[in-house]
Amino acid sequence: MSSSRGRAARLGRSVLDWLEERTSIVSMAEHFLYEPVPSRGRWLYTLGSATLFLITLQFLTGILLLFYYVPTTDHAWDSIYYVMSEVYFGKLIRGIHFWSANALIVVIGLHMMRTFLSGAYKRPREMNWVVGVFLIFIVTFLAFTGYGLRWDQEGFWAWEVGVMIASYTPLVGDWVVSFLLGGDTMGPASLSRLFAIHVWLLPALLAPLIGVHLFLLRKHGEFGSEFEYSERLAKLRERRRIEGSLEEEEE
Ligand code: HEM
Repeated sequence: MSSSRGRAARLGRSVLDWLEERTSIVSMAEHFLYEPVPSRGRWLYTLGSATLFLITLQFLTGILLLFYYVPTTDHAWDSIYYVMSEVYFGKLIRGIHFWSANALIVVIGLHMMRTFLSGAYKRPREMNWVVGVFLIFIVTFLAFTGYGLRWDQEGFWAWEVGVMIASYTPLVGDWVVSFLLGGDTMGPASLSRLFAIHVWLLPALLAPLIGVHLFLLRKHGEFGSEFEYSERLAKLRERRRIEGSLEEEEE
């Protein structure tokens, strides 16, 4: 038993070596996936990856829902009903899209709280915090526009109330309303706008911003990782050494 396991492990290793030699895929995966985190509270450092996982799930299930969803006032709800009752795995796919959207709001909030409470927004990570604020706005707006796409009583009135709140925005309130509704009142044009915003505009903003977020994360590393402390300590010691030798020279 153990020898067959050993043989399987050896075979796996030689396949990986073969791939590594030709594509560098193993070292690339190591480079992209491994990031040292502080040993204290390490579970809290999984929240960003959990957010990323849920967003990926949203993209995948959203694309599948698009195969059936019809963004017109007379067919929107019917197409969702069709997905729920007739389509293979339709109920499951829509359920994942719905629950993952809810979980996303919770997890992104927890991730933001973790970065705030551990002081990860401080220099040199301020830009990553600012990018994060844009990300949470986009994710919230995605959830809200998705709610309206159902075009049932709940979604319709939630969107109507949301737009009314937006209408009180100083100076640009009226413009925001006509941009979101495509007119003065909710109607077919509003659903087209909702669809375009939920399916094209916001994902197109979200994807590159996540890229920037991850790039900045890799540039600075996790806040408080051993690497950061050892580098800081080395700099501090170096400064003390220089200051000490300057003082000696003055004496
Ligand atoms: C689409 C949403 C987001 C995704 C996919 C995402 C993803 C990640 C990932 C994978 C990490 C590294 C792991 C970790 O520290 O948990 C991270 C770190 C970070 N995130 Fe986010 N994040 C998102 C939203 C936010 C928000 C809303 C904020 C705050 C406003 C934020 C601020 C930060 C900061 C400051 C770091 C660096 C943490 C450190 O160095 O300790 N992120 N993010």
